This record gives sequence, structure tokens and C-alpha cells, in this order.
Amino acid sequence: MRSRADMHLVAMVNPPTSQYAENWRHPLSRTDWLDAGFYADLARTLERGRFDMMFLPDALAVPEDHAGSYATTVRTGGKGTIYVDPVVVASVVAAVTTHLGLGATMSTTFLPPYVIARTMLSLDHLSGGRTAWNVVTSTTDAEARNLGMRAIPPKGQRYDHADRVVRTVLDLWDTWEPGALRLDDGARTFADPARIHRIPRRPDGPPLSRGPLTLPGSPQGRPVLMQAGASERGKRFAARWAEVVFAVADDADGMRALRTELRGRAAAVGRDPDDLLVLPAVQPVVGPTDAAARQRLAELKAMLDEGEILRILGRLLHARPDELDPDGDGAALVLAHRGATGSDGFEDMLLRACQAEGLTVRDLAARQAMSQLKPQPVGSPSTIADYLCELVDAGAADGFVVMSALYPVSLEDFVAGVVPELQRRGRFRKEYEQRTLRGRLGLA
Ligand SMILES: Cc1cc2nc3c(=O)[nH]c(=O)nc-3n(C[C@H](O)[C@H](O)[C@H](O)COP(=O)(O)O)c2cc1C
Repeated sequence: MRSRADMHLVAMVNPPTSQYAENWRHPLSRTDWLDAGFYADLARTLERGRFDMMFLPDALAVPEDHAGSYATTVRTGGKGTIYVDPVVVASVVAAVTTHLGLGATMSTTFLPPYVIARTMLSLDHLSGGRTAWNVVTSTTDAEARNLGMRAIPPKGQRYDHADRVVRTVLDLWDTWEPGALRLDDGARTFADPARIHRIPRRPDGPPLSRGPLTLPGSPQGRPVLMQAGASERGKRFAARWAEVVFAVADDADGMRALRTELRGRAAAVGRDPDDLLVLPAVQPVVGPTDAAARQRLAELKAMLDEGEILRILGRLLHARPDELDPDGDGAALVLAHRGATGSDGFEDMLLRACQAEGLTVRDLAARQAMSQLKPQPVGSPSTIADYLCELVDAGAADGFVVMSALYPVSLEDFVAGVVPELQRRGRFRKEYEQRTLRGRLGLA
């Protein structure tokens, strides 16, 4: 059993087009996210807050609407308009921090395993063993067309290929045994050929690479594997490979059910369930007092424009403008566009919210624009700490992926208020005790 102090915190960093639609216009947001200093400052804040990791999501196309146009996305600053390459950002962050983990996204559908293995292991060496690979299969035709395919392959096929890619990446990471790099002057041996191998042949198809890699093994054993698939196939994939799951669930019951299910599935394939950490997404709105936090939330909501948020929802669901009756049934709209986002888990969440609360299209658009489809605790540091601790105590979470409405202020508020409150309660580390990410996460 893990100690109660063992709560993990990961910050999701995706400015400028964060989960909150008006992030880029808000007076408290910085807009120098094309400057390395922006990420360096954010990283120092997170390291001061003893966060486990900065996590950088990614997509390889500007999201398109039902007609294949990116116009709405770019004009509204919709999520995904700008993504600086996560590995490049992580390299900047590695240079200005000493302990913060670096979670970077690379797609198994579009990138060869050799490239993924070498890029992640390079970052791992240069950061002293602080890297996690966020394994994604990617979701959209727009991405496929940018990478030389006509359409995104069906999900089952993507995950089957992802199994082979992950297997190959792990094999490549093992091509140099520990101690293979000798630098032995006396024996005139740079590296020991007997300890450097090609990858083994596997029964599940021809190998996707040969090896060896042009790098010795990882300073942390191997980079941590992170994953966020939520469908049946996605969960099967997580149970087999993932060590950190970025989970989306509406509430404590949903989080606990998902964590229990994933741990059970991991055990069923012969893994120790404690080697799979489930971190649900939360997007806290923190203020000095509960009332001040509610005021902050009201201010965020006041910046939304109904026409704009309907267009953003329409773009997301690939709905035509004439389908976006603000008083229409939200659930019917989601059902009519099943599959549009590429993520079953995300669409399930929209549906559950619509069905449980009878949301109209207008309500759904506002929730989506505010990122209120994920749990959004609002309150003082003490209120937020209560919320997080209760979830961990209930077996609903091993920690959290903390999402932000505004960069960098939401994370600064969290680090200045919530982290000290968790530390006072003995629920979160005051110092980093482990140098590597794997060590800190308590993974094998
Ligand atoms: C919370 C969450 C975060 C995700 N982040 C990314 C991402 O940064 N980049 C990406 O290409 N896909 C991302 N995905 C997509 C998943 O990796 C997966 O490919 C997709 O959800 C389809 O699988 P599913 O239906 O099993 O969820 C994310 C999915 C979820 C649920």
C-alpha cells in the first residue's frame, strides 16, 4: 500500500489554446508562448511546487470543421491552433530544472519506433532520467493528411500498430545492456560489443526496427510510459503498457471505477497494479477565499460569447451551423456526431453530462468552452486540498493531472496556495527525494 503522502501532481501545459476557450484574450494570460522564457518560467514554478512532471500534449494538424476548414479554429484561437513541438519545449525545460519530469507526446501512428525511441532516450539522457513518453495513436484525418496518409486508420488498427511500436521502442531502449559503455582506456574499448544487441525477433509480426540504438540505456531504467486512451481498446492498451494513465472522469465514482478497472486489467495481464498510476484530470479554479474563487470563475464565464462558443462546439463535433440550435438537445447533437472527435472517452463524457443534466446545446457549448466537463473544483487552497485528498483517500486517484484555464497564473495560484496546504497536511512532498521520474513515481 502506498503512503498517504504519495500524491502525484502533473501539470498539463498546452498554451496558448488551453482548455479555456478565451485563455489567449484574458488580461492575466501571458502571450509570449513562442519564447523559450515562457516555458522556463512555468517550469521553475512547477519545480518550486515540487510537481512530478510537466506534461506536454500534442497534435499534428490544426483542427478542422465538418467541411475540412481550419478557419474557425484559427480565428477563435481554438484548442490546437498552435502546438510548439513538445520535445523541443521539454529540452528547454530540462536545461532550467533539475528534478521536474518531462512528459512529451509522440504518435505511434505517424512516427517510426526508431525515431520515437531515440528522441525520448536522448531527452532522458540530457535530463538525467526525467522523461515520460505520452503514447498516442492520434485521432484525426487532418493529422493523417499532414503525414502522408489519406485518412486516419480505424481505431482497432491504430492500437494494434501501437502495440508493435511500443514493443519495438522498449526493445530498442534495451539494445545496450547496463555497463556497455566502457570507456576503458587500458582495454582500448569504447563500448563492449558483447553487450550491445540487435532487437529480438517477436512472434507478432516482422520487426519494425533492427537496432541497436545509437544511445546507451536510460539513466532511469527506461523512460516512463504515459497514455490516455479511454475506449475499451484504449484501456486494454493501457493495462498492457501504461505506467501513468491520464484519465478523464466526471466525479469520484467515475474515477474510482476507472482506477479499479485499470488496476484489475493490469493484474490480469500479470502486472503489479501499483505499477499503473491513474491520474484523473482536474481543472481547479483557486482564489484566496471560496468567494474570490467563485468570482474568478464568474469572470472567466463572462468573457465567453454565445456565437463564438457555439461555433467552437460545432467545429469540435463537425456539426454544420444549421445544426447548432442553442436551445436544442445537447445529447442529440453529440449522438449525431459520434466519432467526430476521435476519442470515445471524451465523447462519452459529453454525453453523460448532457444526459445527466439535460443540457441544451448552449449549455454544452459553455461547459466545453470553460472546460467544465472535467471536474472543476472552485475554492480556496483549503477547499481544493480537501477535494483532492478525499479523492485519493477514496481510492479514486493516485494523483492528478492539473489543467489550467490561464497560463501561467492558474498554475502559479496552485503552487502558491494549494501545494503548501497539501504539504502542511503531509499529503505532498516538501522536497524531491528522487532524482529520476521513475524513482519518484515509485515505478518498477
Ligand atoms: C485525456 C486525454 C488526453 C489526450 N491527449 C492527446 C494528445 O495530446 N495527443 C493526441 O494525439 N491524442 C491525445 N489523446 C487521444 C488518445 O491518445 C487516443 O488516441 C484517443 O483518445 C483515441 O482512443 P480512445 O477512444 O481509446 O480514447 C488524448 C485522449 C484523452 C482521453
